Amino acid sequence: MADAVLSQFKQQEEKEVISSDKKLKIGIIGTGWIAESHAESYLIMPDVEIVALSDIIPGKAQKFAKKYGLENVKFYGHHSEMINDKSLELDAVSVCTYNKTHAECTIDSLKRGWHVLLEKPMCVTIEEAVAIRKAEKETGKVLSIGFQPRFDVNMQMIKKIVESGELGEVYYIQTGGGRRRGIPGGTFIEQDTAGIGALADIGCYSLDMVLNAIGYPKPLTVSAYKSDFFGKNPEMYPEDSKRFNVDDFAAAFIRLEGGIILDFRISWAMHMDTAGDTLILGKKAGLRIPSTECWNGTVGGPMKIYRDVANEPVCYEVPILPDYSGMGLFDKKIRSFLDAVKNGTKAPVSTDQIFYNQAILSGIVKSAELGKEIELDLPDIG
Ligand SMILES: NC(=O)c1ccc[n+]([C@@H]2O[C@H](COP(=O)([O-])OP(=O)(O)OC[C@H]3O[C@@H](n4cnc5c(N)ncnc54)[C@H](O)[C@@H]3O)[C@@H](O)[C@H]2O)c1
Repeated sequence: MADAVLSQFKQQEEKEVISSDKKLKIGIIGTGWIAESHAESYLIMPDVEIVALSDIIPGKAQKFAKKYGLENVKFYGHHSEMINDKSLELDAVSVCTYNKTHAECTIDSLKRGWHVLLEKPMCVTIEEAVAIRKAEKETGKVLSIGFQPRFDVNMQMIKKIVESGELGEVYYIQTGGGRRRGIPGGTFIEQDTAGIGALADIGCYSLDMVLNAIGYPKPLTVSAYKSDFFGKNPEMYPEDSKRFNVDDFAAAFIRLEGGIILDFRISWAMHMDTAGDTLILGKKAGLRIPSTECWNGTVGGPMKIYRDVANEPVCYEVPILPDYSGMGLFDKKIRSFLDAVKNGTKAPVSTDQIFYNQAILSGIVKSAELGKEIELDLPDIG
């Protein structure tokens, strides 16, 4: 009751009136599961029309159009058919394919002159990330990566706390988390489609949560481990274990520029309830961010700050903040991309940051396979 009364006095976010005079023409490449969330968000935007759909599985794009009542849509199979249709005029595409085809779909779309909203993770290898970044630079198109937790007010609070100086200089971060049991199926569990498993699927989010908060310093070295004991176990997964060939758990020790240490672990499956809360240690104070059970892009409960007051150790809570925007995270992700396209502004989740996220993911894979620490000798992506 008290909250309801108080909320009347909170400043409501001003709702921007979006002009529907000119509609942006949107295409979706890959009409699988996540494309549904893209379509649902585009459909509530007054300044957008979905005019093209592409999927390599015959009939899948047509079925998708029917489900969402999309009329006057052009259909394509492989994304290259869409790219090669010279009569097709688009402003932007959502790349919603599995990880392994992120790079080719994105590079081809950018070079065709379309802005791109690319689903997370950015791609699979560091070579692909370099090529994507090069195409983005050459074409000058907007390329945003689909990290919707960036738009969560509590995630944003983590960054605000760090930037406020409340923690002092940050020197150590423990992050990650994941699931006791939660291996997805479908195209997530094979090299040929996903390329990387839990590490890329949910690991990219937990890395982004902390790296974005501290301003994405350059990663320097990685010493990592990954395993696949659960996904490959036929007693646990009688059918999927036959084709499972990615990681279901990974852990890494990463050195970042500025002497910051990042201690990371992520899991789709393990004999433990949590791989731990996220801890950000600064010279003045420490921040504890409770983990969630599945990594759903939210903060798992009130955060706690530990520091000394009058030479005594104290701890106080940062309550979970309400979101008064009236928009879901996915709608915010789509809207911020459309606004960048319309206004010619910087991508809301830019590759100059996510390149480092990808460098860590790819570095973890490489270090784990070599069984030793590696240096990330990253090219200048300026
Ligand atoms: N942001 C989120 O919350 C979120 C959630 C789930 C998945 N994802 C990401 O979205 C991506 C897709 O996941 P999904 O669950 O929708 O997978 P999915 O397998 O259901 O869908 C991918 C589709 O892309 C199609 N495809 C692949 N290559 C193609 C190409 N070259 N041209 C045309 N179509 C092509 C496939 O046939 C498939 O239908 C993954 O990278 C995943 O990490 C993001």
